[in-house]
Amino acid sequence: MKEIEWSKLGFGFSDVNCHLRFTWKDGVWDQGEFVKDPFITMHIGAACLHYGQECFEGMKAFRQKDGKIVIFRPDENGKRMYRTALRTVMPPVPVEMFIDAAKRVVKANEEYVPPYGTGGSMYIRPLLIGTGPQIGVAPAKEYTFIMMVMPVGAYYKGGLKPVRAVIFDDWDRAAPQGMGDVKVGGNYAASLFAHEKAKKEGWPVELYLDAKTHTHIEEFATSNFLGITKDGTYVTPDSHSVLPSVTNMTLRQIAADLGMKVEMRPIPFTELPSFAEIAACGTAVVVTPVWEITRGDQVIRVSDPDTCGPVLQKLYDQVQGIQYGVLPDTHNWCFEV
Ligand code: COI
Repeated sequence: MKEIEWSKLGFGFSDVNCHLRFTWKDGVWDQGEFVKDPFITMHIGAACLHYGQECFEGMKAFRQKDGKIVIFRPDENGKRMYRTALRTVMPPVPVEMFIDAAKRVVKANEEYVPPYGTGGSMYIRPLLIGTGPQIGVAPAKEYTFIMMVMPVGAYYKGGLKPVRAVIFDDWDRAAPQGMGDVKVGGNYAASLFAHEKAKKEGWPVELYLDAKTHTHIEEFATSNFLGITKDGTYVTPDSHSVLPSVTNMTLRQIAADLGMKVEMRPIPFTELPSFAEIAACGTAVVVTPVWEITRGDQVIRVSDPDTCGPVLQKLYDQVQGIQYGVLPDTHNWCFEV
């Protein structure tokens, strides 16, 4: 194993020992096998390549203070991938098989789980793809399910350092009755053009409004939206075209446990200036504060550009504390490997 500078890790792919690969054929999933080669050979007519029949997940494993390795809420990611598979007419991976695969692949790559105290974690990326050839538009007859892992650090440079966001009115992420609520690669493909433009013009992340009316907040390209009102209420959008984020679900529970009021409801764009703190939240980005949001000529300054707000800091400390085993896991969110 090559020496890794754990505290300098960014968010990206790196080679590990192996990934776990399963095949679905004639109506059944096989037992899965460890594969060292990170390349895949598939039919040039594979349904995932032509018609986007694919979906993925994102979760993390942590090395805790006492040395234990745990995966955070893999049951929820497994349930979400199950729903996504049904929506995209792929054979769902049973949740038990999903959790077991996650444990197997983390165990097989144990030495790549960053040490406690470095701020790193092991990112787990499950991938389900239609690999059978399909030239007429229809679901594939063969599928591959892959569970891959890699050690990662912060998604946005600087971790909890606040970022600026932009809203573009020219591009939408997901249609009202489309696939925004499931985790398909197409949702991210839909964001790439705007994302590259945003990055070039100085915004690390873009925020999407509802595609039909452009009046309500939906989510960031990479993650969910959450706002803290001036009276300390946790607010997050309720919309069919937003991905139900496991991190958002976790933070809502933590906020409620801390005695905060939690609201999941439509959030008009016009409400943005009234928030005391705003953040992007998700597995990869954890809690990333957003200090300013630009839409055309309008620049909404939410909070301090250099420091994370007190409520977001508390939510971040709580979730990371549970993940790294320094706070009690009262909801049994950590699955030991
Ligand atoms: C995650 O948070 O795990 C995701 O899948 C989002 C992706 C943009 C990195």
